[in-house]
Amino acid sequence: MSPADTHSPDASDAAQKPSRRRFLQSAAAAAAVTAAPLAHAQQQSAATPAVAPPPAAAPMMPVRLTINGHPYELQVEARTTLLDALREYAGLTGTKKGCDRGQCGACTVIVSGRRINSCLTLAVMHDGESVTTVEGLAPDGDTLAPIQKAFIEKDAFQCGYCTPGQLCSATALIAEYRAGDASAVTADVRARPPQLSDDEIRERMSGNICRCGAYPNIVAAVKAVASGNA
Ligand code: FES
Ligand code: FES
Repeated sequence: MSPADTHSPDASDAAQKPSRRRFLQSAAAAAAVTAAPLAHAQQQSAATPAVAPPPAAAPMMPVRLTINGHPYELQVEARTTLLDALREYAGLTGTKKGCDRGQCGACTVIVSGRRINSCLTLAVMHDGESVTTVEGLAPDGDTLAPIQKAFIEKDAFQCGYCTPGQLCSATALIAEYRAGDASAVTADVRARPPQLSDDEIRERMSGNICRCGAYPNIVAAVKAVASGNA
């Protein structure tokens, strides 16, 4: 066997086999490449504010309302609902917020003679109009309206949260009935219903939910006032 046949490390082998030093050098280079974007990202995040600046305040708009016979001039954001304008700006917290999406009727008020869900309408849409809330149902501050007396006499509430809306709705309901308005259960919509039956009252009050279930007593109270027995 010639010396050429024996296997001994030479210079070319050394070039092909990774030495420990070459391995460490490669690893360090790879780490530098990998870390470069991260360092860049960190520089970017340091330059970016951690918290976005608050959005510019919405411009305020004037709204003139006559609420319970008193003039109010409010400055509200255009997105303010009539319900929030009454409670938060005019300080009239008798009107209640139940669902804030038109499902419960707790926010019912009377606007220019018609009952509406005040959570579903913007205050700016009622500029110049008259609003009646539960605070304005009684003819003066020291007495109760007939419908309020009837609710007490007929025990038409328990927790009372729905009651302001029920009272406003009942007040407008009786006025609508006396004006000859038909409802979905009126047999002949061309003629004024001869009487405000329990079915008529239940239908006309169906937008006002009472989670305490005081419905029979509410119907009794409305009927008593509508028939002049309260
Ligand atoms: S709060 Fe307006 S309908 Fe419920
Ligand atoms: S009295 Fe409680 S929700 Fe009507």
